Amino acid sequence: MRWYEDEAFWSDFSSTMFSARRGESAARLVESASLLSFPDGARVLDLACGPGLFVVPLARRGDRVTGVDLSPVMLGRAEAACAASGVPARLVRADMLTFVEPASFDVVLNVFTSFGYFDDPRDNARVLRNAHDSLVPGGQLLLDLMGKEVLAGWIGRPQLVELDDGAYVIQRDTILDGWRRLRTDWTLVREEKAREASITCWLYSGAELCAMVEEAGFTDVACFGDFDGAPYDQHASRLVVRGIRP
Ligand SMILES: C[S@@+](CC[C@H](N)C(=O)[O-])C[C@H]1O[C@@H](n2cnc3c(N)ncnc32)[C@H](O)[C@@H]1O
Repeated sequence: MRWYEDEAFWSDFSSTMFSARRGESAARLVESASLLSFPDGARVLDLACGPGLFVVPLARRGDRVTGVDLSPVMLGRAEAACAASGVPARLVRADMLTFVEPASFDVVLNVFTSFGYFDDPRDNARVLRNAHDSLVPGGQLLLDLMGKEVLAGWIGRPQLVELDDGAYVIQRDTILDGWRRLRTDWTLVREEKAREASITCWLYSGAELCAMVEEAGFTDVACFGDFDGAPYDQHASRLVVRGIRP
């Protein structure tokens, strides 16, 4: 089994990845961030939507949202979150490697470092081509991940996150293959029991990711340092890349 297919990984580490604080921050971004402002009623595909942190606020403001994820557990949580908020969304269990609905969406979102998971770089390129083909002409792709340059600013510092329930997570990062890939080793300590997991994904600089997005057929490709459209420079907190399907 590949690491991203491990249901238990996403569930066990969900309180650190999908915290209430992250949910609030996603809702604020959807409300106010310029790059997340779409035409009324936009058809939005949230690719690798997880438990719906973006699905819910997007659907609440009237976007017509499809959330796709490989994990039935994550989709179940997204469904429960939509029901609790009384918002409609279509949720589909599918692999981003193969999911394509031709010319069906105005926006494809892929957020919170949900890209670069496949060992074979051609598979990651294929995800971008799928996104391209699922967009209508003029539609936009928005990718948000931890860019190589951003990571370089803080990697090496020990990371310890205390969770609301008293558990804590230790995260250790290791650069592999001359800054091509990153392995992150996580240890979750809860009630004196430790749970370990390792994930390995590709790392992209702004220039590398923009080149991949162009290669997939997008035009007007640009990178930003956050969802407000700040420049991707030494102050950037994320790498956000936008491309338009011609
Ligand atoms: C880091 S989480 C981000 C979730 C969500 N985008 C968010 O902002 O909270 C990555 C998600 O990708 C999903 N995933 C992993 N591999 C996938 C694949 N091959 N196809 C579709 N979803 C996948 C996982 O189940 C998980 O929900």
